[in-house]
Amino acid sequence: MAKISKAAAKERIDFLKKELEQQNYNYYVRNEPAISDFEFDLLMSELQGLEHMFPEFATEDSPTRHVGSDLSGQAGSDFAQVPHRYPMLSLGNTYAKEELYEFDNRIRKATDAPYSFSCELKFDGTAICLTYRQGRLLRALTRGDGAKGDDVTRNVVNIPAIPRVLHGEGIPEEFEIRGEIYMPFAAFDRLNTERAEAELEPFANPRNAASGSLKLQNPAEMRTRGLDCVLYHVLGENLPFKTHIEALEAARSWGLPVSEYSRHAANIDEAVAYIDAWDTRRKTLPFATDGIVIKVNELDLQRQLGFTAKSPRWATAWKFKPEQALTPLLSVDYQVGRTGAVTPVANLEPVLLSGTVVKRASLHNKDQMDLLDIHIGDYVYVEKGGEIIPKITGVELSKRPEDALRPEFPVCCPDCGTPLVRDEDEARHYCPNRESCPVQIKGRFIHFAGRKAMDILAGDATVEALYNKGFIHTLPDLYTLTREQLVSLEGWQEKSADNFLASLEASRKVPFERVLYALGIRHVGEQTAKTLARHFGSIDALAAATREELIQVEDIGGIVADSIQAWFTSDAGRETVRRLREAGLQMSVADDARQRLSETLAGKTIVISGNFSISREAMKELIEAHGGKNAGSVSGKTAWLLAGEKAGPEKLKKAEKLGIPILSETAFNHLIGKE
Ligand code: IVH
Repeated sequence: MAKISKAAAKERIDFLKKELEQQNYNYYVRNEPAISDFEFDLLMSELQGLEHMFPEFATEDSPTRHVGSDLSGQAGSDFAQVPHRYPMLSLGNTYAKEELYEFDNRIRKATDAPYSFSCELKFDGTAICLTYRQGRLLRALTRGDGAKGDDVTRNVVNIPAIPRVLHGEGIPEEFEIRGEIYMPFAAFDRLNTERAEAELEPFANPRNAASGSLKLQNPAEMRTRGLDCVLYHVLGENLPFKTHIEALEAARSWGLPVSEYSRHAANIDEAVAYIDAWDTRRKTLPFATDGIVIKVNELDLQRQLGFTAKSPRWATAWKFKPEQALTPLLSVDYQVGRTGAVTPVANLEPVLLSGTVVKRASLHNKDQMDLLDIHIGDYVYVEKGGEIIPKITGVELSKRPEDALRPEFPVCCPDCGTPLVRDEDEARHYCPNRESCPVQIKGRFIHFAGRKAMDILAGDATVEALYNKGFIHTLPDLYTLTREQLVSLEGWQEKSADNFLASLEASRKVPFERVLYALGIRHVGEQTAKTLARHFGSIDALAAATREELIQVEDIGGIVADSIQAWFTSDAGRETVRRLREAGLQMSVADDARQRLSETLAGKTIVISGNFSISREAMKELIEAHGGKNAGSVSGKTAWLLAGEKAGPEKLKKAEKLGIPILSETAFNHLIGKE
């Protein structure tokens, strides 16, 4: 990786974190990914590289350390959120064969015993966790944020592949089995044809269709969607299996859908041969796959290897390289975002790539355009990873027309005409006209109304309409909207106006940390807002904080501190706070929230052992603050053993014997969402 200054690294890390969080949200919650998986993986590995070089900026809340969340929590969605018994993690992935050998070397170093692998297709669907008790399906949870998932049982019972009752020998009293719910191509094509006929937006790919269908509020409609399921991971206490494959074979014998394409590999070379065989063969499958998963087969060794904060050390995913196409670049558009950042987007001669027609591709920023030395009329290589918005990866110089010209990166904002600025060390150009640039203003409202912010029923179209009518200019204007104004909007009826006003009313109770996030202060993302809210307790305390006080807070650097101060000392910022307070929004942390941080550990008994980065007493308080109970010794009732440095060997042994999951401090922090 090229040399980079510390300040630039921090900015880039902040940017990548935000970008990856946003992409996770697009992917898991909106089911509308905006970038390809390949591009996502590239951003993720860039962030990993930077965090490795600058460990002081590697925070617990980084997307490198937690899985993307699919929790709905949307208006109108009423899935209960239920904690996972065992955290539901993701997989490390690679596109390079050397890394598979490195994966094998790491395992070899950890053991003297012989080991082997299970090689499996990586189904491109949406993860599901099924619990069976006394041979009956008890519950189905989505992955959620890894610690808790949406309870989608009522929908899952409508998937014919998933048995409600099991039959056969040796079914454990209770166990979990995890896998993927996916939509075969045939069902996907049928669904999209029906949607086109009904003038509904088609799904971008089978994965989004599967995950969108699973979250439908109407189980009867679910039944028509043709979903299928494959299961690939058995978990439970005291299960009698020695290997992963043995566990899956047992599951198959009880009637559960287990992949028929998995193979045992005696060593990594055999696993690589499996990968090579499927590289082309996968194209003949009736469903989407995005790679191959290689897992250590021996369960003792799996337990010994354990987990990082985000993924098991005993498994890895090989991702298939995206397919390429060559097509002419017709023109470049420049889009302005909420923060004023300008993104170039390429318009392409439509071309078929991995089964869909591609017309547009992101060019990221001016540096990227310069790096590619892209010209209008050039034949460009486009790639797709997760079959969504593609990326331009190169230019075919031999095909460049003689008169081809470089696209001119604009010097002025395409929306409001203000001259653009480029921050030092930043690859992006910004429109500095924060106060009156229409796209930025509208972007701020869309952010403010967002689900993770104030959760107000106002999407792009509503904000556009309210803005065009001149009803809203600064955020507090939302709270002055009248019913008459709302019904005057095209297509609005009394009912939609009432729903909107009800969501506005409900937003007055939104906790302070989300209000702070909703303000859209640059560099204050969801996690930073939480940290600031907990640290300062109120907006007045935060506004009064000096730069020194701010940078003393964990994870707050100079750039963030400056941005916070600039916001609170600006006239517009002060006026916004004054009017939002007047509108009745939460401007401080509620008292009960201070005592109880969450219910994540409700009903869980946790045993701690060893030393942690905080005192043992503080750790116990933390467990209680998240609703958990402390116990002194490991028993069948223990949910987790939280093992710090020098954890007691007896406790560890007992937990392993009883099959009780052992959590590291990092994994625990992740579980409770502690930054
Ligand atoms: S094993 C502890 N096996 O890929 C993690 N995952 O990118 C266990 N996936 O979250 C996961 N096919 O949703 C596993 N044969 C397979 C899979 C598979 C698809 C999904 C799964 C996982 C994601 C990671």
